[in-house]
Amino acid sequence: MKLSTKHLLGIKDLNRDDIQLILTTAAQFKEVLQRPVKKVPSLRDVTIVNLFYENSTRTRMSFELAERRLSADTLNFAASSSSAAKGETLLDTVNNILSMKVDLVVMRHSASGAPHFLAQHIPAAIVNAGDGINEHPTQALLDAFSMQEKFGKLEGLKVTIVGDIMHSRVAMSNMYLLQKMGAEVTIAGPPTLIPKYIQEAFNVRVEYNLQKALAWCDVANVLRIQLERQNQPLFSSLREYNLAYGISRSMLESINKEIVIMHPGPINRGVELDSDVADGPHSIILDQVENGVAVRMAVLYLLANRDQ
Ligand code: CP
Repeated sequence: MKLSTKHLLGIKDLNRDDIQLILTTAAQFKEVLQRPVKKVPSLRDVTIVNLFYENSTRTRMSFELAERRLSADTLNFAASSSSAAKGETLLDTVNNILSMKVDLVVMRHSASGAPHFLAQHIPAAIVNAGDGINEHPTQALLDAFSMQEKFGKLEGLKVTIVGDIMHSRVAMSNMYLLQKMGAEVTIAGPPTLIPKYIQEAFNVRVEYNLQKALAWCDVANVLRIQLERQNQPLFSSLREYNLAYGISRSMLESINKEIVIMHPGPINRGVELDSDVADGPHSIILDQVENGVAVRMAVLYLLANRDQ
């Protein structure tokens, strides 16, 4: 089977079979990653550039590791130490890199739509590693893989996404994916951080009471407050946000039900998630990070082999 798309720009463009194919392939790569020799020759003749115009720890290292595990040749680009800092355009930068016979581009950019723009101007396949507030497709895929691993299914699973929905590409990609795969979704957070259009556009429930949203779900995917993307204050203070929407152990005990806790990282400890919950027995946050490598191996493998 092959993916229906040349690029991975967003979950919006994938169909259910694409998502299932990526998750199944990722499970095979996860098995490879448990072996003493964690490397396969699948992308031995493929060269990949990791273009990061915005900071990253997990996504960048996870892609780099996935590429090495697949035996690809890799180039790493950080905008702050490149000629982009001297004013070179995105398109000039990418065309110069591609002239060195690079096959595949992984890109993170603070501008929503930057990888979509690039896809219209270059011949290479592009993987969106997060574009502004638009999408973060590999995060949603690794989240789905982690939920499927934990619960054995996505269909019918009840997922609450909590926090700064307005500025979250993770929320956007998760909503597309969970809806396509038949999960039920509730969005929770302060009204100022939940766009009005979301309920209708994604067929999700909106719940402003955190305790009710948690009591309803099997899994809570908790999001970071993205102060760097907020031009004006959208809540009174981080302390008050924590009191109303932070997940604490006492809050979880009050709902008298075990729910799985997820977070894409980086965590603002003591704001959206208390440490004893983030590091607690029901947290699968580090499993998400582990699964990211297998999921990204699957995406790169499937895109690189699409034309063969
Ligand atoms: N989840 C995520 O995208 O983390 P980074 O910003 O560290 O890549």
